Amino acid sequence: MTESSSEHADKRASGLKLAITGKGGVGKTTLAGLLARLYAQEGYRVLAIDADPDANLASAVGFAPAEAARIAPISGMADLIEERTGARPGSQAPIFRLNPRVDDIPDRFSAVHEGVKLLVMGTVKKGGSGCVCPENVLLRQLVSHLLLGRQEVVILDMEAGIEHLGRATAQAVDALIVVVEPGRRSLQTAEQIRTLAADIHIPRVFVVGSKVQGAEDEAFVREGLPDTEVLGFVSLNPEIAEADRRGVSPFDLAPRSVAEARSIRDRLMLALDGTSGTLAAGSQ
Ligand SMILES: Nc1ncnc2c1ncn2[C@@H]1O[C@H](COP(=O)(O)OP(=O)(O)O)[C@@H](O)[C@H]1O
Ligand SMILES: [Mg+2]
Repeated sequence: MTESSSEHADKRASGLKLAITGKGGVGKTTLAGLLARLYAQEGYRVLAIDADPDANLASAVGFAPAEAARIAPISGMADLIEERTGARPGSQAPIFRLNPRVDDIPDRFSAVHEGVKLLVMGTVKKGGSGCVCPENVLLRQLVSHLLLGRQEVVILDMEAGIEHLGRATAQAVDALIVVVEPGRRSLQTAEQIRTLAADIHIPRVFVVGSKVQGAEDEAFVREGLPDTEVLGFVSLNPEIAEADRRGVSPFDLAPRSVAEARSIRDRLMLALDGTSGTLAAGSQ
């Protein structure tokens, strides 16, 4: 561990739960990949969860394309889902287990790269609030276990919503990070997410501005979301686009962005330390 990380090596860091959300294309997966690699480099156990149906966290973490292609999404594992819930996905089983065993899944079905364990959730069927299908039950139980039962830095890369987080598990999220770009539509999405987060009582919501090109863009983000703490900014960086094109992690190709992610991380840890007591106790 480096000197600076030991400052953060408190009880919480061993069980830190971060959820990253925001409008499509803003840079969520890029930030998730950078943070996952950063915490892993500093010696933390990191579990990165790809919970976006449009799954591409593997490449942002740095898995080679062939390796990434071999990581199977949990939602597609029909046998596992049947074994655990008692019902096959898509079947009309009248009864199945609502609390299937999931604690062995993260270690059995994750792949590891540079100290980051990656789990790919796959698509959760929406189908209205009444959709209780075996695959959704398994995924929901899995997210709940990941947030409540793991002593790791867990980083959830989500789509533009927080559907994966039920009321019960939302409380376990130490920080919901909403990524925005300096544009009005992405700020609107951020506002909607903030409202949803308040509804399910997620305690800590933060903003990260992405693809910014200077002070004007930064001011636009801060002024557009005056009630939410801005943790920092990831500048528009051609090296990130280049990393994406080459199928490598921005962590390995974009040092300036890594430095920005480090400062975002520092600000986050400071903000969470400031809350003391309850959150830290919860992650022991
Ligand atoms: N700071 C940045 N500078 C330049 N390109 C970026 C930056 N952040 C993300 N990108 C690019 O924008 C696209 C979307 O980023 P991604 O992280 O996949 O967004 P999301 O997960 O929110 O959909 C990708 O091609 C990515 O390489
Ligand atoms: Mg993404």
